[in-house]
Amino acid sequence: MKTQKRHTITAALPYANGPLHLGHLAGVYVSADIYARFLRSNGEDVAFICGSDEHGAAITLRAKKENKSPKDIVDEYHFSNKNIFEKLGISFDIYDRTSSKHHHETAQELFMEMDKKGALVKKESEQYFDEEYQQFLADRYITGQCPKCGYQDAYGDQCEKCGSTLSSSELINPISTLSGKSPQLKSTTHWYLPLDRHEKWLSEWIQKGIYNEEQVHNPENWKNQVVGQCMSWIKAGLQPRAITRDLDWGVNVPVKDGEGKVLYVWFDAPIGYISATKKWANENGKSWENYWKSKDTNLVHFLAKDNIVFHTIIFPAILSELDGYILPSNVPANEFLNLEGQKLSTSKNWAVWGKDYLTEFVNQEDILRYVLCSITPENKDSDFSWKDFQARNNNELCSIFGNFVNRTLVLTKKYYNGVTPSRNNVLELDVELLKTIKETPDNIAQAVRSFRFRDAQAEAMKLARAGNKYLADTEPWKLIKTDPERVKTIMNISLQITANLAIVFEPFMPKKALELAELLNIKLPRWGQAGKDQLIPENHTINEPRILFEKIEDEKIKKQIEKLKTKEQKSNKYPPMKEEITFDEFSKMDLRVGTIKEAEKIEKADKLLKLTVDTGIDVRTVVSGIAEHFKPEEVIGQKVSILMNLASRKIKGVESQGMILMAETEKGELAFVSPNKEIDAGNTIR
Ligand code: MF3
Ligand code: ZN
Repeated sequence: MKTQKRHTITAALPYANGPLHLGHLAGVYVSADIYARFLRSNGEDVAFICGSDEHGAAITLRAKKENKSPKDIVDEYHFSNKNIFEKLGISFDIYDRTSSKHHHETAQELFMEMDKKGALVKKESEQYFDEEYQQFLADRYITGQCPKCGYQDAYGDQCEKCGSTLSSSELINPISTLSGKSPQLKSTTHWYLPLDRHEKWLSEWIQKGIYNEEQVHNPENWKNQVVGQCMSWIKAGLQPRAITRDLDWGVNVPVKDGEGKVLYVWFDAPIGYISATKKWANENGKSWENYWKSKDTNLVHFLAKDNIVFHTIIFPAILSELDGYILPSNVPANEFLNLEGQKLSTSKNWAVWGKDYLTEFVNQEDILRYVLCSITPENKDSDFSWKDFQARNNNELCSIFGNFVNRTLVLTKKYYNGVTPSRNNVLELDVELLKTIKETPDNIAQAVRSFRFRDAQAEAMKLARAGNKYLADTEPWKLIKTDPERVKTIMNISLQITANLAIVFEPFMPKKALELAELLNIKLPRWGQAGKDQLIPENHTINEPRILFEKIEDEKIKKQIEKLKTKEQKSNKYPPMKEEITFDEFSKMDLRVGTIKEAEKIEKADKLLKLTVDTGIDVRTVVSGIAEHFKPEEVIGQKVSILMNLASRKIKGVESQGMILMAETEKGELAFVSPNKEIDAGNTIR
């Protein structure tokens, strides 16, 4: 595989309007960080770029809802998200923000460059306008019925139910989220990116990988779902896309007629990668242009599937109109991560928040990285569950990796006082293992370079497994009495494996890798050293052994699951709808109006009342669980709805015939369901 020496690696800029959860981490940042760390360890030149996406209607909407300024919102989340990334060891070279002055300048410059050369189209059009608030409505400010799936609360830019990308003019019965009224169409001027002009070359580029003579990629290296999504857009026909908005939060449109308008967030945000690179390069004595304009730079965008078209169609179209920019060689988008079998949802609070994990699993950042890498939704959606999290920690990290390392260190300490013994006669078994040591780094490298991070980590884990099996098979703790020379060789090789594990796991679990190097009393070697079997020289003294991974107890996992369950209950104020039934099934119920004639408490049953009900056609006894809400004397004379043909059953020794219908609030309060005018007992309810 051809390898490049300079890499610009971008990770989608998270919106600074909400906290990060495991879905973000598994979908984008863990993969991107493994890639960046691996390349750095291999001595390659890396600019790993990210930052906060601080514009857009999602942010102004949130600010409005919380009665804050957009600036307050983005300040809050920029710093808290930055902090979470740092704690998790996501090694961005810069975590910038799009509200910064230097970003605004760059975005404006590039807009003007495009405008000047005629790459944009200025056009008047009708846009929705809220009369009451006297402002044009960005797509996000309009909700209505989705034309594709009929969902009632689709946004003007996207239906969250079916995932379709929309424009507000397509919505059926649009409503302004500001006034709650239906908006009026009014004429306004905007700048458009004429994507139709780009359709042909984009199609070639995506299908054949050819941008120009110097920039060619193999489309087979792109994920199917990425190429598929692009092609379905292209086949549907690319339309001019407005890249300005009537909004007062964002990058001002720096040309004539631009007053009161800002750049569309999806125009300025990816330019954020460029402005961040400039800032980083300036501060580090580098040339930013090498990272964006040099043909031998490998540009890779990491993101999740909802960002694909912005990075494979819109941003490339923009870059192609600017002077000398390269295009990405790959956009290895991930799919989505679910949580305990359900779609993650910020609004429903169905998520595990990064911040919560960090406070509840102190010093276990790498465990999360390990688990999220194992379940990265590389080619299809995947699921995070707490049980699986526990199992991967306990059965893989503790029982295999940790167990191997710990035995190696403890036995070295015990038999040789921590001094590395010499290697003598190697047997066939040893030769096999030395071969595995040698091959492992290349296997990992190949997987990482082709964006197969799950395989890559599994490959690293294989080495730990091999080591663990080696000790189990050779049983040095038995041999030490009969064949101490042999044990020296075994322990020497085990130490070499341990050192290799530190190197190859660094991209995945950077803190653990450093800890391991520390235990071995070595400086963590770089990737180039991996595969060697003399990393720990004879007579080298290791440090005091310490446990590397700790088991996670059931109790702790149970607590997490319970926490989610209460979230679920809170988010679902009302129980979900039951399964559909037919009219025939419904009409099997004999429902009627009845009148309570008598009521009395039932002995030793706090909740139950024994009711005598006149049903028009008979007088019968019904036991009802309402005693905590009504006193017997209160209900006499009450009109009720009664289910007549429910099979009778004995409750606390009393035969109950039928059931009284009650409405119940989420707090458990009860109310009778009775006709709202005088109707005699015996009349039917249908
Ligand atoms: N903020 C966007 C999101 O969270 C991603 C922006 S990526 C960039 O979906 F390219 F625009 F930077
Ligand atoms: Zn829809």
